[in-house]
Amino acid sequence: MRGSAEEGLKKLNWAEGHMKVLRRVWEEDLSGRALEGERISMALHPEAKTCVLARYLARSGASVRLVACNPYSTDDDVVAALLEEAPGELEVMAWRGESEREYREALLWSLQHNPTLILDDGGDLTEIIVSRPRDFPELKGISEETTTGIIRARGFEREGRLPVPLIDVNGAKMKRLFDNRYGTGQSTLEGVLRTTNLLIAGKRVVVAGYGYCGRGIAMRMRGMGARVAVAEVDPVKASEALLDGFDVGRMEELLEGAEMVITATGMKNVVAAGHLRKLKDGVILANAGHFNVEIDLKALEGASSGVREVRDGVKEYILKDGRRVFLLAEGRLVNLVGGQGHPVEIMDLSFSLQALSLLYLKENHVRLPARAFPPRGSPSPSGRPRNIWAGVLPR
Ligand SMILES: NC(=O)c1ccc[n+]([C@@H]2O[C@H](COP(=O)([O-])OP(=O)(O)OC[C@H]3O[C@@H](n4cnc5c(N)ncnc54)[C@H](O)[C@@H]3O)[C@@H](O)[C@H]2O)c1
Repeated sequence: MRGSAEEGLKKLNWAEGHMKVLRRVWEEDLSGRALEGERISMALHPEAKTCVLARYLARSGASVRLVACNPYSTDDDVVAALLEEAPGELEVMAWRGESEREYREALLWSLQHNPTLILDDGGDLTEIIVSRPRDFPELKGISEETTTGIIRARGFEREGRLPVPLIDVNGAKMKRLFDNRYGTGQSTLEGVLRTTNLLIAGKRVVVAGYGYCGRGIAMRMRGMGARVAVAEVDPVKASEALLDGFDVGRMEELLEGAEMVITATGMKNVVAAGHLRKLKDGVILANAGHFNVEIDLKALEGASSGVREVRDGVKEYILKDGRRVFLLAEGRLVNLVGGQGHPVEIMDLSFSLQALSLLYLKENHVRLPARAFPPRGSPSPSGRPRNIWAGVLPR
């Protein structure tokens, strides 16, 4: 076992003690073994808050298989505690630093118990389901956590390949207004601070993307005294950033003089090969988007004469002309790989929605077409978490 179960148990209990909404959802909706007989496959970040959710699902009668949705975001202490606790219905295959092959094997393992429900974060499980739907005859539905996973799911839906209904939890205001904005804002700052131990005040920071995550990051960086500029391709959001008081410009213009660049777009090569010549000596690059594709790592490596780890979670690339670039957390989600992920109270809301969505899929899947819910263009679900889907999803 890689982590300390004793430490993990403290982290789990601390998180659970502060997840009061989930506790209430459990008391009101899930206790009485509401998920009895369900087999749930979960691919999320297996740290304390996620493991609290997994515990509640298992307590509700489901058998649960939990794996990572990122090879570096597992908290080994917490997983060790869960394995020691061994409630029987809860199995975990995840550790920090999985190879690509191990990561893939774990995803496949999570699906080997003939799941009835999927809880996905980023769409990797959904992609496997879509590629061989006949292998999952009892699947009732999927609940997806994040923007990137929803973009992938909507693509499968457009191609008519989604085999079961999928709930876009990210589409709920109770999720994206708080998780993506305040959660990513605080935890990205924390991830940067933990990995670098450098001063934020006075730094010139460029935030790429002024969506839900980007505006949280920009807001919190400014709060710490950084001089923040925003690179955003959508002119409306770019205008919002301007009126919110940030400098706004094209990436190539803003990079000159930038001391830190943080991407949060969900798109590829936001810091691209062509940008590398603009980077200032000593610049810090970090990503908060779901996949490690936002900074062109191949181009960075190709442009470098040497790479070395200079601190846990910080890689120094020496460019061929001698400039140094510091990459945090291998270009993966800096808040989860370099920090502890979102604050507990934030994940309390997001995971309460997830628990209710799974229950909803269990109870309503027969009447739901194999589509993503809520349908495009419908009003965003809002209101108290318990009633989150009222008026949006069919009853
Ligand atoms: N780190 C975390 O814990 C966490 C939490 C929630 C979401 N996410 C992930 O963060 C990413 C962003 O999510 P979001 O909810 O903010 O999405 P969003 O759609 O609200 O915002 C993304 C923004 O990026 C802009 N953009 C796209 N390409 C760009 C480019 N090349 N340069 C500059 N701007 C560009 C878009 O116009 C959009 O405004 C996704 O991958 C999502 O899955 C991460």
